[in-house]
Amino acid sequence: MKDSQVREMFDAIAPSYDFQNSFLSLRIDVGWRRRLARMASSENPQVILDAAAGTAEVALELSRRAPRARVLGVDFSPAMLAKGKTKLQGLRENNRIDLACGDCRQLPVAAESVQAATMAFGIRNIQERQLVLKEFHRALTPGGRLFIMEFGLPDVPILGPLYRFYFHHVLPAVGNAISRTNYAYTYLRDSVLAFPDDDAFLAELSSAGFTECGVTLLTFGVARIFSGRKPQSNRAVRSA
Ligand SMILES: C[S@@+](CC[C@H](N)C(=O)[O-])C[C@H]1O[C@@H](n2cnc3c(N)ncnc32)[C@H](O)[C@@H]1O
Repeated sequence: MKDSQVREMFDAIAPSYDFQNSFLSLRIDVGWRRRLARMASSENPQVILDAAAGTAEVALELSRRAPRARVLGVDFSPAMLAKGKTKLQGLRENNRIDLACGDCRQLPVAAESVQAATMAFGIRNIQERQLVLKEFHRALTPGGRLFIMEFGLPDVPILGPLYRFYFHHVLPAVGNAISRTNYAYTYLRDSVLAFPDDDAFLAELSSAGFTECGVTLLTFGVARIFSGRKPQSNRAVRSA
């Protein structure tokens, strides 16, 4: 799918996006985002970037886990962001969260300006992954960390085959019906299947300049969090 079609799709499903997530994942996704926020806030970052922020679910979790940090959410779908802005109104976290319309392939942030970056369920939508990973690398301060959460398929007895049946046959049909489209969840399934396996994506992180690359499985691998660190620069290491 072209980027403009991806944006149009998220604009179209934005009104019921949060409900779709909760319904189709039985609210397990709430715990996944909490885990992501916990990992991203563990080294007390002052500024956290959440790319492909959507309706600000991750930004909200981040601001709760890191009460002294500023959180910047970036997304290219105006309708998803509008939903997020409405959600934040009246919450005390609102004054520490900024939501901006922008493209992850050209992040609207200065170089070396964020100590942690997250992206939940966004990377599989973007063809130019290396471009995005390099943008994260540019935005992070030396020593800063990147956390990318994406869907996967569990590879365990009993649950694995059951989930695969759900994922291949039930999810597209029910998801398309709930989102009132005939393609959104067929696209979700196909984009997850097209995403590289763990080793291949970890190699992509390394080739974008990240070190300490690793993957954490969530719910037996139904979701996973890839992580990496931007190394301290040679200059910083020499002068230390
Ligand atoms: C599946 S939603 C995930 C939203 C949110 N992170 C969450 O956990 O619910 C994917 C989001 O990625 C955004 N997106 C996809 N490609 C993008 C790009 N190139 N630049 C910015 N946002 C993008 C879409 O607009 C959409 O809001």
